Amino acid sequence: MESVKLSLGPFQGITDAPFRNVFKKHFGGIDKYYTPFFTGIQKDHAKNMQVEEIDPRFNDVETLTPQILSTDAEEILRFAYQCKELGYKEINLNMGCPFPRVANKKRGSGLLPYPEKIEVMLNAVFERIDLKFSIKCRLGYFNPEEIFPVIEVFNHYPLSELIIHPRIGKQLYKGDADVKRFAELIPMIKAPLVYNGDIVSMESFGRIREQVQPVNEFMLGRGLLANPFLAEEIKGVWEDDKKERLHAYVIDLYEERLHHAGGSPKVLGRMKELWSYLMNSFDESQDIWRKIKKINALKEYEEAVETVFREHQVI
Ligand SMILES: Cc1cc2nc3c(=O)[nH]c(=O)nc-3n(C[C@H](O)[C@H](O)[C@H](O)COP(=O)(O)O)c2cc1C
Repeated sequence: MESVKLSLGPFQGITDAPFRNVFKKHFGGIDKYYTPFFTGIQKDHAKNMQVEEIDPRFNDVETLTPQILSTDAEEILRFAYQCKELGYKEINLNMGCPFPRVANKKRGSGLLPYPEKIEVMLNAVFERIDLKFSIKCRLGYFNPEEIFPVIEVFNHYPLSELIIHPRIGKQLYKGDADVKRFAELIPMIKAPLVYNGDIVSMESFGRIREQVQPVNEFMLGRGLLANPFLAEEIKGVWEDDKKERLHAYVIDLYEERLHHAGGSPKVLGRMKELWSYLMNSFDESQDIWRKIKKINALKEYEEAVETVFREHQVI
């Protein structure tokens, strides 16, 4: 399935620059990456933009799209301007974040019930923006009908891409992605459309792809964190030696993070969060997770990882 386009969705706290670079070194199949969202871009050359996370020396500006969480057109334009200066070709606006502390401020998916606010914001953005602008959203915040007037607004603007995760904000990540509803929206949307949600295997990919034809672009998320071979499997470019490759990846990522953190045990938080997904690549995954989640020393972590690869099978 070479013609399919695949991206890796952003995960705050997991898919940062060290992750993306190590992942790319070890696995194929992903055409495009997104940064987890930036916020608080209060001025030009903001401090929080002068970080490895977006520095072109550590990132490929051709395949990485920086994401912002904002409802302030001035801030979005400031972000766009700085991204353009760094060489990026596109930015993405987060209109999907479901967490109450974000959504209650009418940000992320909390903006979806207010199409008139979205229109005012996009009007101001598109008056001045001079790089590609895409949006990632859900079906709504309180209910999935909210998407209809929002699509009407989106259709007024030349979005480079619209990524829809067919859940509502209130659901967080519970329940199933509503693929059927996504399919109903396809003919209404002018922007190039990307499907995101619950692709966890070849089986689910095949089933969802069938339902959302002719959409040909898919953003992978937790499914790829749990099984880093998923994109290769979908594209049919998968190579064997799963266990060896996973082992090398996990060690490389840990060492890279440790290097960046100056040897601090704070890397354990991010590694543990990855293992909360990656455990699903192994038999007896709950046993693995029980052991790993309580670790709080580097040495203990290193030993536990070796035990996992020695005693468990990759499934
Ligand atoms: C811990 C966590 C952090 C996330 N951070 C972001 C983020 O920064 N920006 C964003 O657009 N989506 C974020 N997401 C959503 C994912 O990118 C993705 O849309 C979601 O997991 C649904 O896809 P999936 O069912 O394939 O996992 C996050 C999700 C989780 C669970």
